[in-house]
Amino acid sequence: TVGLAVAAKAAGKKYFGSATDNPELTDSSYTALLSNTKEFNQLTPGNSMKWDATEGTRGTFTFTKADEIVSLAQTNGQLIRGHTCVWHSQLPGWVTAGNFDASTLTSIIQTHTTNVVGHFKGKIWDVVNEPFNEDGTWRTSVFYNTLGSSFVSIALQAARAADPAAKLYVNDYNIDGTGAKSTAMVNLVKSLKASGAPIDGVGIQAHLIVGQVPSTIQANIAQFTALGVEVAITELDIRMTLPVTTALLEQQKKDYQTVIAACKAVSGCIGVTIWDYTDKYSWVPSVFQGQGAALPWDDRLVKKPAYDGIVAGF
Ligand code: XIL
Repeated sequence: TVGLAVAAKAAGKKYFGSATDNPELTDSSYTALLSNTKEFNQLTPGNSMKWDATEGTRGTFTFTKADEIVSLAQTNGQLIRGHTCVWHSQLPGWVTAGNFDASTLTSIIQTHTTNVVGHFKGKIWDVVNEPFNEDGTWRTSVFYNTLGSSFVSIALQAARAADPAAKLYVNDYNIDGTGAKSTAMVNLVKSLKASGAPIDGVGIQAHLIVGQVPSTIQANIAQFTALGVEVAITELDIRMTLPVTTALLEQQKKDYQTVIAACKAVSGCIGVTIWDYTDKYSWVPSVFQGQGAALPWDDRLVKKPAYDGIVAGF
């Protein structure tokens, strides 16, 4: 086989990548495959760039863990997606419970984003993560509650100023197919563009379920790129209810192929990242009870049918 990154590039995409996390890097067979640029020419730190990891105490920035992943990517010659500056989750208590007024919270967002984006130049960034509810309304968070939707442009502007070369994205889940939540993202991009806020792309997380991949994925990607932004699939995994069966693995293969083919078909879809590559380190079993086996390599680092589905999709 040619490798997933090789296949992605042959299809005109910039990258095929994987999320990873610091504790896994001590697993040498895992890290060897992660570093194989025929499979992955892009990495996303799964946790170590988040607010709780980078500014757990106000004004004190810690980049040790993020730097470890960035320098691994650099050594390997892999791109990095930075993940993420402003998100309601994995947010330290000093932000959530700080009771800051609008101007103070604005400067807290600016300081955080400036320091984080400024520390890692030339990256692609999920600047804002998960701003919407399922029905397309704005998610309640300390950011939205204090600043309304302006927190998005505040963060984007700070990111642009910190690194004019960075690519700036808003990222969310359940915006894989068309629907209320995707429409909310369309409207956000339109309004950011109308107001001159810097927005380069929409990140589609794509935490999907075997047998339930939306049929509108390609049309949905195209409705974003029609607005003049890039699209990336940022956190792809396709989980199943355990136990694993041959039938489920075959359906999963088809589902991966469907997602990849949708990205391939739209030229503005620039790349795909899976949310880690092996079931050994997937976040799924810890969050979705009774579900798992969501990734193209199993927990012994053996390729599953899903791997061939990805290759076929490209
Ligand atoms: C997950 C990580 O993979 C876990 O290790 C952590 O415990 C929780 O967060 N959407 C996102 C990611 O944008 O940041 C989340 O990552 C998965 C869902």
